[in-house]
Amino acid sequence: MKKIIASGFGVALILCILYFASDSNNYASAGNNDDEFEYEYYYNTDKTGDNDMTDTASTSANDNKKIEYSSNIPDTEPESISVFINKEYALPESYIPDNLVVADVTFFGGASDDKNKMRKEAADALEKMFSDAKDDNIFLYGVSAYRSYQRQKEIYEKNVRNRGANATDQVSAAPGHSEHQSGLAIDITTKTLGCNLCEYFGETAEGKWVAKNCYQYGFIIRYPKDAEQITGYSYEPWHIRYVGTEIAEYIHKENITLEEYYGYTLSDYYLENIISDASTSDNNK
Ligand code: DAL
Ligand code: ZN
Repeated sequence: MKKIIASGFGVALILCILYFASDSNNYASAGNNDDEFEYEYYYNTDKTGDNDMTDTASTSANDNKKIEYSSNIPDTEPESISVFINKEYALPESYIPDNLVVADVTFFGGASDDKNKMRKEAADALEKMFSDAKDDNIFLYGVSAYRSYQRQKEIYEKNVRNRGANATDQVSAAPGHSEHQSGLAIDITTKTLGCNLCEYFGETAEGKWVAKNCYQYGFIIRYPKDAEQITGYSYEPWHIRYVGTEIAEYIHKENITLEEYYGYTLSDYYLENIISDASTSDNNK
């Protein structure tokens, strides 16, 4: 039995690596139609607090779908560590975090790039987590952390060109809608996967360690397994998001997503048109 399971994992791993070898840079363009994106909200960049976009968002078309146990409303302040970013909540195009630093961990693919940067509080937490993991013989590698709006646009559009809008929208955020732009998210992996990003990461010792422990450092697995209908994205065991230890601990203990924490569900447009169980892997996520 053990042999069957082990060989099953082996096959999954090989398929994963073959997939990357053949298809590591694919993307496509979504042809955004304003009507389709009527549910989008844009963050309040007005630091005076006069702009009440938060209230607008919380009384949106999704109001009747709030999950009962959460009285939180989505945090729409770009500078907040609990900022809510998803298919319907976007960061402003011009938003660049003002305290980006290079995270002092080993990155796959070189050290001198914006993708190695995170907001200072997230970078500090990541460094501590990677260091503690190492003490447990768990060796983690950074792949992609901060991405500018422009960089996310290039990635997304390339995916749409090569893969089509529908497949892209299950794995890749449209520009403005990626947590990577916040400097609070990072994709991490392990050497045994050739440092690629794939679902099998969740089955590795490293992926399991991260899933079990990351909340202690203020991170959550942002796109958990079987939560496609909630997050709008396929399972991404490698994408962790810094939200601070208090929220991370709550989300971990309750076994919920950030959407559920904010009592928020995706609009029918996304539920009906985008989300399917297509499961894909590549490094442009
Ligand atoms: N892969 C995640 C959803 C992103 O593109 O931000
Ligand atoms: Zn990611």
